[in-house]
Amino acid sequence: MYTRRTFLQTSIAASLGVAVSEKVLAYPAPLKQPKYPVVVSTWSHGLKANKAAWEILGSSGYALDAVESGVRITEADPAINSVGYGGLPDGSGEVTLDACIMDEKGNAGSVVCLRYIMHPVSVARKIMEKTPHVILADRGALQFAISQGFKEEDLLTPESRKAYETWKISGGNSPADRLNHDTIGMLAMDTAGNLAGACTTSGLAFKLPGRVGDSPIIGAGLYVDNEVGAATATGLGELILKISGSFLIVELMRNGWSPGNACREAVLRINKKFPFEKSAQVGFIAVTRNGETGGYSLKKGFDYAVCRDGINELVNADYLI
Ligand code: GLY
Repeated sequence: MYTRRTFLQTSIAASLGVAVSEKVLAYPAPLKQPKYPVVVSTWSHGLKANKAAWEILGSSGYALDAVESGVRITEADPAINSVGYGGLPDGSGEVTLDACIMDEKGNAGSVVCLRYIMHPVSVARKIMEKTPHVILADRGALQFAISQGFKEEDLLTPESRKAYETWKISGGNSPADRLNHDTIGMLAMDTAGNLAGACTTSGLAFKLPGRVGDSPIIGAGLYVDNEVGAATATGLGELILKISGSFLIVELMRNGWSPGNACREAVLRINKKFPFEKSAQVGFIAVTRNGETGGYSLKKGFDYAVCRDGINELVNADYLI
């Protein structure tokens, strides 16, 4: 979009006799002392995930390896009922998982509605690295995963089965539980300045079979652009999808917005367009190419974990409501 800012930048560049290049327009401006390596991830379960990611980042490892390794911790944790193994099932009692991953070159891989595989993020990475495609879904995704050596497992834990049975007994025909939203999204920047991101979820509890949220959709649940920064989302996917939340945040940062303000603007846009959605939660986190981080949520209660210099801490996000 040709904005007033672009116009001014173009005019200044022209008056200085400088060719208008991406460099002139690129934000955020580089810092003298960049704040990376860094890893940031959604919710308190991000602390454990960050720890695994930091083992790679702290020894000058690759950001893509760090985000994959980090969110695999959450995927394998049966106590977290919104991601991977132990995730609450859909309305037919099946656990279906969604995930995506992006690297510093803008490559992306995604898997939707994947059954029986504990680590959808790793399947997404294989899709990115081994196929000409970005997204594989359902049966095709499972076949691909098996062809790559992934093992089929029952992902429904006794606790999740019990929760499903309770929901069934209580009617089982209400809309999906809109408070079950604790997706993990993780963003990392390594010592070499490579950004990467991953996002993985079992989606809304008791969702309509086949429902896919924002998490595996590039630009909604996750977006990475090494020239600018990266963003990821958690919360009610339908709202995040309808504003292309993560892409929006990265584009705002490209125009000079701080990560926190860009996340806030995405939330404001959701609230303006869908003001009746007050019962839902949405949270965003972002990092700039300088390693600055920020987050913001629709409602009180969203937190995110930031790890820098080996110090891993939880930050309470600012919120609208
Ligand atoms: N944000 C996760 C989902 O809506 O599926």
